[in-house]
Amino acid sequence: MATILRTWSYRYQWLYDAVASLAAVSVGGVERFRHLALLSLTIESETKVLDLCCGSGQATQVLVKSSNDVTGLDASPLSLKRARQNVPQAQYVEAWTENMPFPDSHFDLVHTSVAMHEMQPEQLRQIFQEVYRVLKPGGVFALVDFHAPTNWVFWPGLSLFFVLFETETAWQLLKTDLVGLLEEVGLSVSNSPTLCAGGSLQVIQAKK
Ligand SMILES: C[S@@+](CC[C@H](N)C(=O)[O-])C[C@H]1O[C@@H](n2cnc3c(N)ncnc32)[C@H](O)[C@@H]1O
Repeated sequence: MATILRTWSYRYQWLYDAVASLAAVSVGGVERFRHLALLSLTIESETKVLDLCCGSGQATQVLVKSSNDVTGLDASPLSLKRARQNVPQAQYVEAWTENMPFPDSHFDLVHTSVAMHEMQPEQLRQIFQEVYRVLKPGGVFALVDFHAPTNWVFWPGLSLFFVLFETETAWQLLKTDLVGLLEEVGLSVSNSPTLCAGGSLQVIQAKK
């Protein structure tokens, strides 16, 4: 599924950023959107942070403001080239999230924004296992991604967005119990996901 707009949004960063800005209006703007998964977390200069599926560094940009030790990981060489230009303060690694080239218990915080909806269900399980492996004991996995709206007003907008820009995996994510999957790999989630934008976005913080 999806349309040529998906290809273009990855090819042209201005289009990706424009669409993200438009979508972020529902949570009060891009600045607020980029902090959603980090609310209530303490990030210090020496906190070891991984921005998983960092894309062109949109969230990495926020993370480097608090930590001097941020690594961005993505499978796309083009996105990483842009991330290196946009946010040179971070280090970058080209790799698949399912098989990360990091030692066990390496990071204090793994963050990921709007990327898990691109994964097949089996991939999600592998990724969460990897996140568990690379987190230090007591470390946190913070994620923000789509969720089935709880307010019907948000269904038409989300559906249109999915038809234009997303693939089947985004629809599958709406039916996926992310908390259940995280708990299956050993992470603990003390609260239900925090829902924003009429329930169309979920924020989860899970601890190792
Ligand atoms: C929608 S973008 C999100 C980018 C950024 N995190 C943000 O908040 O805007 C999803 C990113 O995930 C990356 N990606 C998708 N599947 C991946 C995988 N299996 N391993 C590593 N990166 C992956 C893509 O290359 C893309 O840059």
